[in-house]
Amino acid sequence: MFLPAALILGLTAAVSASPGPSHGPGHGKAPNSTFYNPIFPGFYPDPSCIYAPERDDTFFCASSSFNAFPGIPIHASKDLQNWKLIGHVFNRQEQLPRLAETNRSTSGIWAPTLRYHDDTFWLVTTLVDDDRPQSDISRWDNIIFKAKDPYNPKSWSNAVHFNFTGYDTEPFWDVDGKTYITGAHAWQVGPYIEQAEVNLDTGAVGEWRIIWNGTGGMAPEGPHIYRKDGWYYLLAAEGGTGVNHMVTMARSKKIGGPYESNPSNPVLSNANTTSLFQTVGHADLFHDANGNWWAVALSTRSGPEYLHYPMGRETVMTAVGWPKADWPAFTPISGKMSGWPMPPEATDIPGVG
Ligand SMILES: *[C@@H]1O[C@H](CO)[C@@H](O)[C@H](O)[C@H]1NC(C)=O
Ligand SMILES: *[C@@H]1O[C@H](CO)[C@@H](O)[C@H](O)[C@H]1NC(C)=O
Ligand SMILES: *[C@@H]1O[C@H](CO)[C@@H](O)[C@H](O)[C@H]1NC(C)=O
Ligand SMILES: *[C@@H]1O[C@H](CO)[C@@H](O)[C@H](O)[C@H]1NC(C)=O
Ligand SMILES: *[C@@H]1O[C@H](CO)[C@@H](O)[C@H](O)[C@H]1NC(C)=O
Repeated sequence: MFLPAALILGLTAAVSASPGPSHGPGHGKAPNSTFYNPIFPGFYPDPSCIYAPERDDTFFCASSSFNAFPGIPIHASKDLQNWKLIGHVFNRQEQLPRLAETNRSTSGIWAPTLRYHDDTFWLVTTLVDDDRPQSDISRWDNIIFKAKDPYNPKSWSNAVHFNFTGYDTEPFWDVDGKTYITGAHAWQVGPYIEQAEVNLDTGAVGEWRIIWNGTGGMAPEGPHIYRKDGWYYLLAAEGGTGVNHMVTMARSKKIGGPYESNPSNPVLSNANTTSLFQTVGHADLFHDANGNWWAVALSTRSGPEYLHYPMGRETVMTAVGWPKADWPAFTPISGKMSGWPMPPEATDIPGVG
């Protein structure tokens, strides 16, 4: 049933970064770093990460927690090598009492998106009741949490609810001051990626519009929008969270589309490989202080058979080259990785953790 313990230990998060300087633009001048995947071994699916220079140059990541409580773990790091579990967004029953009513290992909190805007941490996610039909809006409880201080559990607000017949919702603040929610519409009646204007303080949403249907893979989901070089880039997961999982992208000059698919899709996948790292997908992108891009994604150490994976769905990281006005290029996922010079080692993450 289980992988040999030695194999598991041999692949967990030991890190040996090269000691070279990591300042400067990092485009081939400083030696690359070596790090080992998964960066978060164990049950940390659907990672979403940000870099917050305003918060002492710190990286923060959230992941799915399904029916576990406390829920929605947050990890923090200053060097992308030493990560600390600093707490949970969902840490008091009154924040979201309905979690106690949902059954099944597949119910509960799905795919949070963590973002930092206006001196506030925002966490948008979906509480799913998998016993209800997909077309039933009460299956999908879409919610917004916010906090000023992610190291303090009390700082996280109670859930603000908004109406959407779907899941994997994320906030996006456009340059014109408008705020949007983008999410994956339920697949029995979709599948597609939808978007609406939102008031994040009240949960009031405008009209939902389809902005992309994906590339034809099962269940386009986990959408994230990034604005760069005059383009809106839309990243999504497709193929389901099993061995056909992949990351695809599209882009548009307008937030509402039409979005054109990247001719090189999928941009990241281990489908049809014999890698130990299977099911790679559901990614998020962020950059460091040097402007170098990174991605995190979900992966399962189960390959190539995908029969036994006692560690569940874990978080992996990879380096991404993103030339100006061009599509990003993701380094394929394996255990031992080479990538941009990392920020200098720093283990001083505050709090108990
Ligand atoms: C959870 O399962 C129990 C036992 O099957 C059932 O009585 C209850 O209605 C279920 N709750 C929900 C919210 O579906
Ligand atoms: C969500 O929809 C329900 C039923 O249509 C409505 O009563 C409620 O006001 C809506 N909530 C929000 C935040 O728009
Ligand atoms: C996306 O799917 C919707 C609903 O099935 C459909 O109406 C629309 O034409 C599709 N758009 C594209 C570009 O295929
Ligand atoms: C994997 O192979 C199947 C069958 O040939 C194909 O349909 C699918 O597109 C491939 N997936 C990727 C990500 O290459
Ligand atoms: C360093 O990593 C980046 C991202 O994977 C890659 O583009 C670059 O070629 C690497 N440089 C060296 C010297 O290996």
